[in-house]
Amino acid sequence: MKAKNCLIFGGSGQIGSFLIRKLTKNNLRVTVVTRNIHQKGLKIKTQANAGYIDVVEANIFEKEKIEKLFSNADYCINLIGILYEKKKGNTFKNIHTVLPTLLSKLCKKYDLENFIHVSALGVNEALDSKYAISKLEGEKHILDNFPKTVILRPSVVFSNSDNFSTLFMTLLSRLPVFPLYYSGTTKFMPIHCSDLTDIIFNILRKGTDTQIIECVGPEKLSLKEILEILLKLINKKRFLIPFPLILAKFSAKFFQLLPKPLLTEDQLRLLKYDNVPSGKYKTNSDVGLPSKLYFEDEVKKYSHMWRDGGQFSTEKYDLKDKYKD
Ligand SMILES: NC(=O)c1ccc[n+]([C@@H]2O[C@H](COP(=O)([O-])OP(=O)(O)OC[C@H]3O[C@@H](n4cnc5c(N)ncnc54)[C@H](OP(=O)(O)O)[C@@H]3O)[C@@H](O)[C@H]2O)c1
Repeated sequence: MKAKNCLIFGGSGQIGSFLIRKLTKNNLRVTVVTRNIHQKGLKIKTQANAGYIDVVEANIFEKEKIEKLFSNADYCINLIGILYEKKKGNTFKNIHTVLPTLLSKLCKKYDLENFIHVSALGVNEALDSKYAISKLEGEKHILDNFPKTVILRPSVVFSNSDNFSTLFMTLLSRLPVFPLYYSGTTKFMPIHCSDLTDIIFNILRKGTDTQIIECVGPEKLSLKEILEILLKLINKKRFLIPFPLILAKFSAKFFQLLPKPLLTEDQLRLLKYDNVPSGKYKTNSDVGLPSKLYFEDEVKKYSHMWRDGGQFSTEKYDLKDKYKD
């Protein structure tokens, strides 16, 4: 039987790399679209065996080029997303609303079997955030255009190549004190990247009647608890200090000027809301796809790189017992 072809947008990122490996190992073909094949081509191609993957360069404004790709696709998966707005064109509206709307129209035109769109948890609640508003608007247009869509709304996604646990461990290992926005009480349900890509794969394989699924990990942790786990794993002691909101806003104003902002005013507004299921939609457990991987157990596997001793600080290098005498 001919392998089905998945057209993936945003496949060079964290979730994309895990997803390409998962799908191609299970005999699906992928066509991955990137803005810069010279920069990202090697990373993307090495996620799959030859013959299972094609990489195409296109940006979101090249409609004809994008449209051509749909004629060979069975499924489309959209993983494109940004955390902050930058140059002209890279706006939340363009990336989270205009592009997904176009993709859903093309899914309809070429009668694809399924469109999986990765949005974010909490977009219904955080209505003072431009990020959330743009994601929510995108979701509405997609569902209007192409009802065979499944929208996944993950809580924070972690893995050894994330921009969350690894960034926090870098900051915690370098800073003597660490600010706690909103006193660190905001709750998250971190989901491991491979649990999320298992969900995507299962939806493609078995289908689902549910259009919006909130995807969460197996435990609820506050920001302070997450930081404490990371400090324990990297074997460091740091002061976690509640930060007054006025100072937080001021620092965000400054940070968002950096080329890769550590925090923006919009992200600060998002942080106010717990990142947990709304109760209005089914979760991944409700649709029979529960997450299996726990935050501390998984981060432990790569946290040694942030400990003193780096690669030699893993348990396998603990030679004290071996060379006792
Ligand atoms: N990671 C999380 O914790 C998390 C949580 C909730 C929701 N999500 C959502 O899940 C999706 C994937 O997340 P991720 O962590 O894999 O993201 P990521 O690592 O940042 O990758 C995002 C991808 O989007 C593409 N991209 C970025 N800016 C673009 C632009 N201006 N035009 C076209 N493509 C652009 C990039 O592809 P190229 O550079 O190759 O073009 C990149 O591979 C996003 O929609 C994100 O909002 C993520």
